[in-house]
Amino acid sequence: MSSDASTPLILGIETSCDETAAAVVRGGVEVLSNVIATQHELHEEYLGVVPEIASRAHLERLLPVLRKAMNCAGVEWRELDAIAVGHRPGLIGSLLVGVSAAKALAWSLDKPLLGVDHIVAHLQGGLLNEDPATYPAMGLVVSGGHTSLFHLTGPTDIRLLGRTIDDAIGEAYDKAAALLHLGYPGGPKLDELAADGDEHAVKLPVADLGRDRLDYSFSGLKTALLYAVRGRPTGHGKSADFERDSRDLSEQQRADFAASFQRAAVTAILRNLNRALDQHNVFSLLVGGGVSANSKLRKELQHIAVDRGLDLRLPPLEYCLDNAAMIAGYAAHRYKAGLFDDLSLTASTQTELTSR
Ligand code: KG4
Ligand code: ZN
Repeated sequence: MSSDASTPLILGIETSCDETAAAVVRGGVEVLSNVIATQHELHEEYLGVVPEIASRAHLERLLPVLRKAMNCAGVEWRELDAIAVGHRPGLIGSLLVGVSAAKALAWSLDKPLLGVDHIVAHLQGGLLNEDPATYPAMGLVVSGGHTSLFHLTGPTDIRLLGRTIDDAIGEAYDKAAALLHLGYPGGPKLDELAADGDEHAVKLPVADLGRDRLDYSFSGLKTALLYAVRGRPTGHGKSADFERDSRDLSEQQRADFAASFQRAAVTAILRNLNRALDQHNVFSLLVGGGVSANSKLRKELQHIAVDRGLDLRLPPLEYCLDNAAMIAGYAAHRYKAGLFDDLSLTASTQTELTSR
């Protein structure tokens, strides 16, 4: 098995949150293996990711996950052209496990090291096992930690156009789902319940930060849903009681709340996306992040792509959620551009894409 500079064989590592993942990808697109050990069962009872539990679990799981990724790909360590790792943004303790492992592998195997921004890598999800995209492109990342719009003149030439100023859309979905007692992670469960509801049943706000702004805000929607579901607070402070609990609602009412929430959240995403598309001429629309698995969002994005004649790259479900194939895939662009890192690479809680 041999590779050249245009088809580097890259091992990717992803440990930014609660998935321990490793993948081998050739030439940025050909996924030879994609192994994910999810930790959902460890965080379920807390209704959210507990950072200390996450980093310990990464430590225990990473070596077996790495070995499995190499075995499934049928690749020897010496055949790799580079080691890539999602090194930002994310939970610092979790990121450090992946970054340390990547550095140790790069050093001991004498291979180049590539640090990858997790948010940007999500945009590679719809390009895996597919033809390359044509640029300029618009990028939309909708996940548990991020809600961002990007303009890309090339794979490594990216400008942030807008992002959430408070909650990420996935976080809002998870909180809405918790309010409706749907379990964790709630996004997919709320999506499912919404299918049985009337999306016009409850009027919920679609935050608009101004005609010229492409930023998002989801905290108002979350609070509006809280009051709509539970009624007025009857006490003070954090432990305030409310008129009712979502368990008092009928199944149909819960579905109506879910559908109305989903309509408001997706409307907000699409409004700013359409504004950005009015401002920038692009050929492609790259979408990624856990919430790109959402049924309503996927349907609406397909309409937009048809109306505007865009090449829409929606990831298949396995590449919507956090995975390492997107890390290894995106790393190929950095490899080809000569954007290598050395052993001083560090983990960071922040994305590199904060300037506009
Ligand atoms: O990209 P991801 O795996 O992790 C981050 O980088 O944040 O995204 C996870 C998020 C969670 O908030 C989850 O509830 C949400 O994606 N999610 C969904 C759906 N599937 C996953 N949200 C809405 N509808 C879905 N079908
Ligand atoms: Zn993610």
